[in-house]
Amino acid sequence: MRLGQRLRTIADMVPIGVTMADIGTDHAYLPIYLVEQKIITSAIAGDIHQGPYLSAKNAVAAVQLTQHISVRLGNGLEVVKPGEAEVVVIAGMGGANIIDILNSRPEVTSKVKRLILQPMIAAALVRTWLHTQGWQIVDEQLVQEEGKLYQIIAAEPGGSPVVEPVLYEIGPLLWQSKHPLLKLHINELIGHLRGVILAMEGSADAVKLAKYREYTIRLKALEEKIRCL
Ligand SMILES: C[S@@+](CC[C@H](N)C(=O)[O-])C[C@H]1O[C@@H](n2cnc3c(N)ncnc32)[C@H](O)[C@@H]1O
Repeated sequence: MRLGQRLRTIADMVPIGVTMADIGTDHAYLPIYLVEQKIITSAIAGDIHQGPYLSAKNAVAAVQLTQHISVRLGNGLEVVKPGEAEVVVIAGMGGANIIDILNSRPEVTSKVKRLILQPMIAAALVRTWLHTQGWQIVDEQLVQEEGKLYQIIAAEPGGSPVVEPVLYEIGPLLWQSKHPLLKLHINELIGHLRGVILAMEGSADAVKLAKYREYTIRLKALEEKIRCL
């Protein structure tokens, strides 16, 4: 199994020999790669939809790994028993969905030793959730694949100091390490926010909203950060 750069970076964050659950696995590429490479010996591959579930089942059967990868149909962590997975990967979903999944089975989430999350949107929400729920971000990576930039966050149980709000958006470790793609990442955040602000400025009512003020403050903070690079 050959992985693209995004899934490969996620795979590199999975410690050797752990038990792992890939939630929203779709085609099960990640668990197949990890078992084939002997990074782990077994995995749970979960998906809520019949189509991806069947595609994962077929992919696992095709490489004869049915003894090693348990493909399960169900919502989020409902397919995992407490203590069954030391590492949980949730990749390719929105931040709010990721948080819902983690919140809905506290008995499972509280036993996890490492989360590896790749939110497609709302990464700031995910980082804020991690901070308030007693998770410490231990690794962050940016990956560019087919012209798109992806953020990957690894977290482990433990407290973390409060950081300035803009760093929840940028990623505290991406900022600290001055990741090679950091400038591109911040410019993307700025571009997105400018678009939202511009759209709001088309309405006299929208510019009176607290959200408008919040967005302009966030934009200013991001612009200040990029000037420091
Ligand atoms: C875009 S795919 C990502 C696949 C893979 N994780 C990756 O990053 O390449 C998202 C997958 O998550 C699944 N999904 C969405 N919400 C889910 C949930 N609450 N529980 C389990 N799977 C879910 C979808 O069915 C879909 O297969």
